[in-house]
Amino acid sequence: MSESKPQSALTETAETVLQRRYYLKDENGKVLENWDILCRRVAKAVAAVDAGQPDAEELAGQFYTMMHSLDFLPNSPCLMNAGTDLGQLSACFVLPVEDSMDGIFTSIRNGALVHKTGGGTGYSFSRLRPKNAAVKSTQGVASGPLSFAAVFDAATETIKQGGKRRGANMGVLRVDHPDILAFISAKEDQSRYNNFNFSVAITDAFMQAVKDDASYDLVNPATGAVSDSLPARQVFEEIIDRAWHTGEPGVLFIDAANRDNATPQLGDFEATNPCGEQWLLPYESCNLGSINLGRFVTGGKVDSTRLAATVRLAVRFLDNVIDCNRFPIPEIAAMTQKTRKVGLGIMGLHDMLIQLELPYASQEGRKAAAEVMNFIHAEAEQASIALAKLKGAFPAYDPQYNKYPARRNAALTSIQPTGTVSMIADCASGCEPYFSIVMIKHVMDGDRLPMVNRLFEQVARREGFYSPRLMEKVAASGSVVGQQEIPEKWQEIFRTAQDIAPEDHIRMQGALQKSGVDSSISKTINMPNSATREDVRRGYLLAHELGCKGITVYRDGSREGQVLNAGNRS
Ligand code: CDP
Repeated sequence: MSESKPQSALTETAETVLQRRYYLKDENGKVLENWDILCRRVAKAVAAVDAGQPDAEELAGQFYTMMHSLDFLPNSPCLMNAGTDLGQLSACFVLPVEDSMDGIFTSIRNGALVHKTGGGTGYSFSRLRPKNAAVKSTQGVASGPLSFAAVFDAATETIKQGGKRRGANMGVLRVDHPDILAFISAKEDQSRYNNFNFSVAITDAFMQAVKDDASYDLVNPATGAVSDSLPARQVFEEIIDRAWHTGEPGVLFIDAANRDNATPQLGDFEATNPCGEQWLLPYESCNLGSINLGRFVTGGKVDSTRLAATVRLAVRFLDNVIDCNRFPIPEIAAMTQKTRKVGLGIMGLHDMLIQLELPYASQEGRKAAAEVMNFIHAEAEQASIALAKLKGAFPAYDPQYNKYPARRNAALTSIQPTGTVSMIADCASGCEPYFSIVMIKHVMDGDRLPMVNRLFEQVARREGFYSPRLMEKVAASGSVVGQQEIPEKWQEIFRTAQDIAPEDHIRMQGALQKSGVDSSISKTINMPNSATREDVRRGYLLAHELGCKGITVYRDGSREGQVLNAGNRS
């Protein structure tokens, strides 16, 4: 293994986040941990699974170093709960919603138990009979998926995730469900369903009907009867119109996902986790971890030896998490242990590209991203095959369905948002470009201090175009594009989310999806406020064509209370 990079110190922001939500506290709220102690706690708990293996002793040390150096971080529930009584370590769950009172309220109960432990849940409401359909037992009529979704939403509002983060849900409805039009416009009233992301599950048949300008059938899932038919283009336009207005609903390409289902004998994918990067079968859960790519560039090249070693260790870590996880309900434990899915992803992709001097929005940038993702997948697969030899393949492994050799995990890679762990690691989140080159830091007396991205400042000093005045100008506009003092090459390299064309966002998502992402990718396609519905339409068609498993667009300023804002407009 080549030399590890020196440890990077935690930023002030990282320390604040850790102190508020990650370090263990006593009953009076006194912080009991620091970064070193937290990493030891997590490493020890996860390595304990291998007690008795020949390398057990070194393993805890290696896990510790990989996290402490910020080369790799597991998802938040693992950092928060490993080695504690709670011990629930996964971020992602999908729960079935059966078409019965018992089924619906069992699902709400199970979701509440998942949220209590810090996990997020995805539900498909597609099996529920439509609004006003007959209910035999009461001779009444059904309330329909949306009114039940409101009950799920209210339950989430009450049970915050482990007291540490807001509960998150994904709600999915198939495009051929009779209530689809009401679902598409359900979030028009921005005060409703706030604990949900809504996505329409779109089929290839629907996309074909859009292309052919044909009608398609709506099917009552309870009876299998065709209840109506709608012009596909009209429904597509509705989705586009709502997404243009509010960013929701998102779209999931359910057939593309099911083509990659490694265990079709266990069922079909119906829903993803809240942020869309994990397609899971009903009752499956998945624990995630992300490699901080910005830390793997040495001398202008990706250090593949060190990256390979980290990927292999990360797979061992994530696989162990399954065995030391305390699952919230027995059905989830049973299903997760059958397929043993893990979600190894990346963060700091943009940091890597900046160091390689490649623009995110370029053919070369996408090529480098695809190469690194392919490499990670190949190494992860080798690690999983080796683990299968040591500990056995995932129990549902069946050569009749799986094209690959026996391995330990039915799925290995996905790209998560890394919303919080990238703040700890101080890098661009997941596979996203930096949202801004300037962060506004809120200081004690209410003042707002603009801080220029550290990589940008380093490059500006090294290349000789640094000046305090330029930093102020960049801070004021939030963008490097069009600043004459900055050489054009660096303007391209430091383009941020808003300066990157929607097509280039989608092309990056497509390049990564094709290059070794087993499950899916959490990605926002940023659009300027001036983007048109036609831009959204073209984006959806391109995403489908490129084999993406979903797409979420966000037009700047289209949602009230936007969380992130570029430059000093925040
Ligand atoms: O960075 P962190 O590990 O906190 O999480 P993330 O990568 O931003 O999100 C990964 C997954 O965690 C999401 O897709 C959700 O399934 C779940 N999550 C959640 O349940 N609640 C949140 N508030 C944030 C994330």
